[in-house]
Amino acid sequence: MTEHVIVTDDGPIRILRLNRPDKKNALTDAMYETLSEALENAAVSKTIRCVVIAGGPTAFTAGADLQDFLHAARHTEGLRRQAMRFLHSIAHAGKPLVAAVQGVAVGIGTTLLLHCDYVVAAIDARFSTPFVNLGLVPEAGSSLLMPRLMGTRRAFELLVMGHPLTADDAKAVGLVNAVVPAGEVEPEAMIAARRIAALPAEAVAASRRLIRGSAAEVVKRIDEEAEIFKRRLKSDEAKAAFEAFLNRKG
Ligand code: COA
Repeated sequence: MTEHVIVTDDGPIRILRLNRPDKKNALTDAMYETLSEALENAAVSKTIRCVVIAGGPTAFTAGADLQDFLHAARHTEGLRRQAMRFLHSIAHAGKPLVAAVQGVAVGIGTTLLLHCDYVVAAIDARFSTPFVNLGLVPEAGSSLLMPRLMGTRRAFELLVMGHPLTADDAKAVGLVNAVVPAGEVEPEAMIAARRIAALPAEAVAASRRLIRGSAAEVVKRIDEEAEIFKRRLKSDEAKAAFEAFLNRKG
């Protein structure tokens, strides 16, 4: 457990709040563990019917902690087991997931949205996946799900060229359901979550399985991406990019 993720239950709705504002909610191993635990537990809960993932006013999340990536690169590790557990948990999420996005959503902050069922974003939210700029490759099954959602050309622009999306762009390509003023993001997400939670639970579960398709296919891609990611983490390109970011103020 870590204080950097706050898990609260409000009736049938579980809220997972990323709470590491001084680091723009960059995700650490401990945060991945808490998120996985909460998702896995929600999947088998008889009371939880919907899960909301929220960040803070300036950052949903700046993605994986680059300090951890640098450590992994220097110690020839791959994506750590905590991150892999989270990716598998979210791909298998047993209850509907609603995301409330304000501020920046970088890397996994954007790719995890591909696993959410309903996404509310602030007008000033920004979505980016600078994997290739960091010498890396897409993760979280995004190499499969992103082109499926928006077509290969838009996916290339986002995942390879690293072009960010505004909230309106994200809505246009189907990554986001609703764009609202910043102060309305969480209330809107909670309204959606309550509506979902009020629906017949078994029918929701069966419909989600049909809409989402094969979780096994997504998990297979997550694992394939992770193998390549592991090699890329050790590359000189990646190490130079992590060091450049972490030393940029010094
Ligand atoms: N990993 C580790 N630390 C991070 C981080 C990350 N992914 N993102 C931000 N931080 C830290 C910064 O190092 C800084 O820490 P410091 O105050 O101790 O120096 C703090 O969070 C605030 O970030 P800062 O860059 O000063 O804020 P900003 O508003 O100028 O920029 C971002 C915000 C998100 C655009 C910028 O921090 C960024 O590009 N982060 C890296 C995103 C990334 O590449 N993620 C990995 C994708 S695979």
